[in-house]
Amino acid sequence: MRAPLIAGNWKMNGSLELVATFAEELSRTALPGGVEVALMVPFPYLEVARSRLPETVGVGAQTLSDQPSGAFTGEVSGGMLADLGVQMVLVGHSERRTLYREDDAAVLARVRAALGVGLVPVLCLGETLEERDAERTEAVVLGQLEAVLDALTADERQRLVLAYEPVWAIGTGRTATPDQAQQVHAAIRARLASYDAQLAETTKVLYGGSMKPSNAVELLAQPDIDGGLIGGASLQVDDFLAICHSAG
Ligand code: 13P
Repeated sequence: MRAPLIAGNWKMNGSLELVATFAEELSRTALPGGVEVALMVPFPYLEVARSRLPETVGVGAQTLSDQPSGAFTGEVSGGMLADLGVQMVLVGHSERRTLYREDDAAVLARVRAALGVGLVPVLCLGETLEERDAERTEAVVLGQLEAVLDALTADERQRLVLAYEPVWAIGTGRTATPDQAQQVHAAIRARLASYDAQLAETTKVLYGGSMKPSNAVELLAQPDIDGGLIGGASLQVDDFLAICHSAG
């Protein structure tokens, strides 16, 4: 079965001090058994996060270059992340898609770059409010999914984690209801099954968008929700730990 994964996405927030706080708290608090936990921190904090967090806590980056090396000022390659002991990387987060204009081709190139160096890509999918209101949610989300999966081999597809993050629920305090989220997660899983039944069985599909201690239990109880990608609430160690325990 799929072990739940609770991943915090700090976005462009945090500090060395916050890394230290998390390292301290996560080291002295027992994490719930059977729950995988990870933190996606800004690039400058990856190394200290990897060295100070307990080994059982995964460390992830929030993006990567689509290129392996070269004259790309300001970019960070997957190889550099792997060098630091980083295990996973977000790809296709809606903030990257919209603010940095990463389209499906750019997302695919980054997924390939991550897979090429052994990082787990956490592929984010989600519709805008406008798209939801136009009843295009599944078309948009499954389109984003297929743009990547169609280009990968069966082996490569097995190495992804997916995250459904409705854009209208990110940072807005407005969460998808458990039913709304489950419906999209079920559609994602059905599409995975159209590639191969085992892929549908094993792929984790996380929910993200204003997940917090007060709504995590209900969301995580849905059969096709395998964990959470937590933004704002992952900046407070108590809230983050409470969500981890909701998954246990
Ligand atoms: P919030 O939890 O702040 O809504 O952010 C969700 C998100 O974008 C995680 O990647």
